[in-house]
Amino acid sequence: MSTTEQRVAVVTGAARGIGAATAVRLAAEGRAVAVIDLDEAACKDTVEKITAAGGRAIAVGADVSDEAQVQAAIARVAEELGAPTILVNNAGVLRDNLLFKMSVSDWDTVLNVHLRGSFLVTKAIQKHMVDAGFGRIVNLSSSSALGNRGQANYSAAKAGLQGFTKTLAIELGKFGITANAVAPGFIATDMTAATAERVGMGFDEFKAAAATQIPVARVGEPDDIANAIAFFTGEAAGFVSGQVLYVAGGPLD
Ligand SMILES: NC(=O)c1ccc[n+]([C@@H]2O[C@H](COP(=O)([O-])OP(=O)(O)OC[C@H]3O[C@@H](n4cnc5c(N)ncnc54)[C@H](O)[C@@H]3O)[C@@H](O)[C@H]2O)c1
Repeated sequence: MSTTEQRVAVVTGAARGIGAATAVRLAAEGRAVAVIDLDEAACKDTVEKITAAGGRAIAVGADVSDEAQVQAAIARVAEELGAPTILVNNAGVLRDNLLFKMSVSDWDTVLNVHLRGSFLVTKAIQKHMVDAGFGRIVNLSSSSALGNRGQANYSAAKAGLQGFTKTLAIELGKFGITANAVAPGFIATDMTAATAERVGMGFDEFKAAAATQIPVARVGEPDDIANAIAFFTGEAAGFVSGQVLYVAGGPLD
């Protein structure tokens, strides 16, 4: 591929929140962007933001945990935008509960969307990256990978994604492909708003309480994460691979 050709990025779960901010940011970096989410119509806002700013984007409806839907979605992206060589595995769900109350279905849903979904989308796209001799993969982990009460399913999935990321880095490095994980702390999105509701707190009160535990004294915004993802997906980041970056307003390990 000539360096003047526009690279194609796929961002899953990009109808809103961190995924939407990432799609808009990658488009601003000059990428064509496939905005993937469960419901194609829900991707319209993100696509319009990109096209209104002069960028190229398409909306694609797919459940990342469904193999056939993923294969069809990636085939459509390759056909309509070009071969994708940048991938952000961002789609996610929460089904929080204490272990003794966690249903098998809540365990399976979370593992299926985060882990199986990232596996399926990465597997569908890696051939395009190998053919291009270039690829950038970013997986969304979480501070919860370190353990978090009420999130046995989610923390297992997010820790699993760190192992998945490091293995991708080892297997795919020789094809010019890097894989890294971004692990956000508290980011203000619909996901954290739903958690506030579940624990019976107003979102502003919930954010203020969270901010007291964060060294930079505020919660994160989706753009804070999009910024880190833009670095990892950049042309100049080819020697940065297999890393986990906590973006949490303070140190975590
Ligand atoms: N918000 C935070 O504080 C936080 C912290 C750490 C990690 N994360 C991670 O960042 C990512 C984005 O989180 P967010 O806060 O923007 O969440 P969000 O709930 O606002 O958005 C998630 C998006 O993923 C989509 N999605 C869910 N299941 C899907 C599926 N099966 N197929 C396709 N799309 C699907 C949803 O429709 C939604 O648009 C998630 O992986 C989340 O676990 C978020």
